Amino acid sequence: MDHHAHGTPTLENLHTETRTFSPLVSFAVHANATAYEYKKAEVDRLAYWREQALQLQWKIPFTEVLDWSDAPFARWFHDGTLNACDNAVDKHVRKGRGDRVAFYFEGEPGDTQTLTYNDMYERVQKAANGLLSLGVRKGDRVAIYLPQIPEAVVAMLACARIGAIHSVVFGGFSAESLRQRIDDAEAKLVITADGGNRRGAHLALKPLVDAALVPSENHDKPAESVTNVLVVRRTGQDTAWVEGRDLWWHDVVDPQPAQHEPEWVDAEHPLFILYTSGTTGTPKGLFHTTGGYLTQAMTSHKQVFDLKPETDVYWCTADVGWVTGHSYIVYGPMINGATQVLYEGVPNAPHEGRWWEIVEKYRVTILYTAPTAIRTCMKWGEAIPDQYDLSSLRLLGSVGEPINPEAWMWYRRVIGGNRCPVVDTWWQTETGAIMISPLPGVTATKPGCAHAPLPGVVADVVDDTGRSVSNGEGGYLVIREPWPSMLRGIWGDRKRYRKTYWNQFDGMYFAGDGAKKDIDGEIWLMGRVDDVMNVSGHRLSTTELEHALVSHPWVAEAAVVGASDETTGQAVVAFVVVRSDGDGAQATGEEVAQELRKQVRREIGPFATPRTILVVSEVPKTRSGKIMRRLLRDVAENRPVGDVTTLADGSVMNAIAEGLGAGKGD
Ligand code: WTA
Repeated sequence: MDHHAHGTPTLENLHTETRTFSPLVSFAVHANATAYEYKKAEVDRLAYWREQALQLQWKIPFTEVLDWSDAPFARWFHDGTLNACDNAVDKHVRKGRGDRVAFYFEGEPGDTQTLTYNDMYERVQKAANGLLSLGVRKGDRVAIYLPQIPEAVVAMLACARIGAIHSVVFGGFSAESLRQRIDDAEAKLVITADGGNRRGAHLALKPLVDAALVPSENHDKPAESVTNVLVVRRTGQDTAWVEGRDLWWHDVVDPQPAQHEPEWVDAEHPLFILYTSGTTGTPKGLFHTTGGYLTQAMTSHKQVFDLKPETDVYWCTADVGWVTGHSYIVYGPMINGATQVLYEGVPNAPHEGRWWEIVEKYRVTILYTAPTAIRTCMKWGEAIPDQYDLSSLRLLGSVGEPINPEAWMWYRRVIGGNRCPVVDTWWQTETGAIMISPLPGVTATKPGCAHAPLPGVVADVVDDTGRSVSNGEGGYLVIREPWPSMLRGIWGDRKRYRKTYWNQFDGMYFAGDGAKKDIDGEIWLMGRVDDVMNVSGHRLSTTELEHALVSHPWVAEAAVVGASDETTGQAVVAFVVVRSDGDGAQATGEEVAQELRKQVRREIGPFATPRTILVVSEVPKTRSGKIMRRLLRDVAENRPVGDVTTLADGSVMNAIAEGLGAGKGD
């Protein structure tokens, strides 16, 4: 395995980080979380989870908490039945809280909508009936490819309501990526929009769906499973139309009756599939089921964000296309009856104060965002947030990648006015919910530290042999016991699930992250230890990128590494060998780079575009033919190249270094 911890904190500054911030008494006395919960969960973990799960609404209550007899395939609360949408929406209406605002929607162009739980109740029922009218049934898969608009939330909940399995595909993915995901899940319906708003322009989505559903040059297999495409009108731009297949959302959904009895499903009924990058070329369709996932999303959201649903205004800036949006916009917060901000746009359109303007406008109290966004705001300067009234904020969260102490301190001081607890939350698409985080009001925080597993979660840091490391030492992050919101597998591939997560260490879940215990035994995340990169909090696979590059006719070979980047955490750096017999042989380094950037956008999506593409004469390999990414990372990060003794051809690195010196890069 290629050990390489990227980003900060570095091992060195861990030894020197001594700042701690004790909870303010004024916060602690009202905090949802208590230290007692750790104790309770430690004494009887399953009883603790039973108690949490009982806070959901069950149609038929469960009797068994966990069935682990077929490990690593878990069943939680399996003999109970419930419905996710009933928990997220109907419950609040039943309990007389229907007038509470569920979402303040802020479109990028400045259009707004205020949606109460009553409004959501009406919308999800109409949408559920709309889906049924198109023949979607329990267990069918529905691909959702939408901008960050209320219909995305409604579509997800409507699927859950009828027992259909949603597979949300982030709107930044290309037609090819969408095709792959639709095919793998054999989706029956695609829900999309004409387009979304991006930096003042209309970004088309529907044409990408069209492209995904017809045969193309490289991919002769069209997504054949799809019978209909349901299109939300968002931008009003012109859209090609396939008669009989394409339907407007407003034509199908709006005339439906607003009465629909939820489909009561078993706790282990799949709720959603979400594709994520692994270490191989094909993305994995991770799937989560209903009862366990909802339990942990709900509980963690209440504890970690200290949500007081009557008074808080909560804003998670993630896109619903990623797991953070699933667990901490749709399911966790809505089950807890939160009032949320949903924002369609980017932080700097039309100006760099846009986020802070939104915080001021809606009096946001809880903000959950990613380190890359914090570092970007740092770069723009604190004079920008200083122009806005951020005094409503009372808690700040971070997710997606290691947060460096400097960014943590800036977030706490400039955004949080030195009064808000900062919670650095570690988790993954696989874990479904936050696993490691401080508890606000309980934990004395250290800048850049994720601290401890939440109550009921048993995480550890182990060495190569699977033994727990001592305080002050580093190793691999593992989870020792099953947890309710754990992934239930990889869609259609039982073997790959076992192999990816359960084969490294006997009986433990392998997260793929490096971690360290500090002298107090608290956990610091050190970045991925496998071939997964983290660019602006987005997971990318080096292999997937290499596949995208070598499928271009100019490219003979490609090697991709994640190099550390001040703003995005990591950035994609690609080394390519150009074919001497192709058109690319005549092109300059800059022309090759331009052409291949386009290729990556087309194959994966704009967010995966390499920062740097370097043309080299050869890629360094071991004698067994494995690419030595460690050496390439040295080059990409401007370090002296490390040990080359295992290279099949020791002179390759010299050639690369010389080539770069001669300006063959971009
Ligand atoms: C990384 C996002 C350090 C980690 C919720 C993990 C983090 C991957 C943190 C999962 C954090 C996420 N500190 N690293 N607080 N949060 N990561 O599936 O490498 O998109 O394995 O889930 O992001 O990314 P995913």
